[in-house]
Amino acid sequence: MRKKVTIVGAGNVGATTAHWIAAKELADVVLVDVIEGVPQGKALDLLEALPVEGSDVSVIGSNDYVPTKGSDIVVITAGFPRKPGMSRDDLVRANAEIVGAATKEAVKYSPEAILIVVTNPLDAMCEVARRVSGWPRQRILGMAGVLDSARFCTFAAMELGVSVENVQAFVLGGHGDQMVPLPRYTTVAGIPITELLDEATIAGLVDRTAKGGGEIVNLLKAGSAYYAPGRSITEMADAILKDKHKILPCAAFLQGEYGIHDLFVGVPCRLGSGGLEKILEVRLTQQEQAALQRSAEAVQALVKALP
Ligand code: NAI
Ligand code: 2OP
Repeated sequence: MRKKVTIVGAGNVGATTAHWIAAKELADVVLVDVIEGVPQGKALDLLEALPVEGSDVSVIGSNDYVPTKGSDIVVITAGFPRKPGMSRDDLVRANAEIVGAATKEAVKYSPEAILIVVTNPLDAMCEVARRVSGWPRQRILGMAGVLDSARFCTFAAMELGVSVENVQAFVLGGHGDQMVPLPRYTTVAGIPITELLDEATIAGLVDRTAKGGGEIVNLLKAGSAYYAPGRSITEMADAILKDKHKILPCAAFLQGEYGIHDLFVGVPCRLGSGGLEKILEVRLTQQEQAALQRSAEAVQALVKALP
């Protein structure tokens, strides 16, 4: 039987994720959104592309959760972007309500699923999903690290003039300006990037990575990134659906790892069919540990603002 992925929120990120998953023939897809006609229209349009692509999955759009029944993965992208005049706390409260409602409905129909939360502010929204679902940490993950690492890889490959396939980047921490790209663990064909570029150049790449989401927002003016986020979500779904035991950076609920307790923060995770199989702890310098701590404190402040 084919696998099934529900994507809540048929906006830019949700629809792009559906596109990647369907094109890769990974799973049947159900798109759910509150706007009448939009998930149905996007699903039908995508379905009609599949004979050309040569993919036999089904794609359904819906305004309710009945067709989502028995999903293997539920991706939550529903929510608002930050609008002018809106504080970060306002956004937390508004999206917490949406993510909470989406989680409640989704888990009712798919009690065995793995949840991948995407809505911002990411790490705090993972906590909402955890509280509402009551699920163990193995089955609640947040997507940000794959995207942030992909951005780091992009900028490093551009700087060095090498294939993006040569670069393996490592980013820890919450999905915000305080994220912690780790050059020491970032390699190019196995060579640490610190051996290939000087400190100032690396600092520039790190800064651009940390501000990568904002760079796209400034260019688009309305809305935020969706191609790279959609592909990054698909990478996590692929690892889970194919039980790959693949190590990817994800937001996971830490219970003492890296000295952080009861908080979602981005760390290297091994993913398989049960979701989070293992969190990998790597040795950090004092400076790196302090940066991670500051990033965790920023997440904690957002969690405190939850209703
Ligand atoms: P969008 O505005 O294009 O789409 C959001 C969709 O959610 C809309 O279609 C809206 O109708 C729907 N929605 C609102 N309330 C809903 C509900 N209760 N149930 C179902 N659907 C509902 O926004 P976009 O660009 O798709 O981004 C979605 C979220 O993902 C935002 O919070 C954004 O900040 C976040 N994001 C996170 C990333 C990450 O790395 N974690 C990367 C990119 C975006
Ligand atoms: C990004 O990093 C908006 O979180 C989103 O592009």
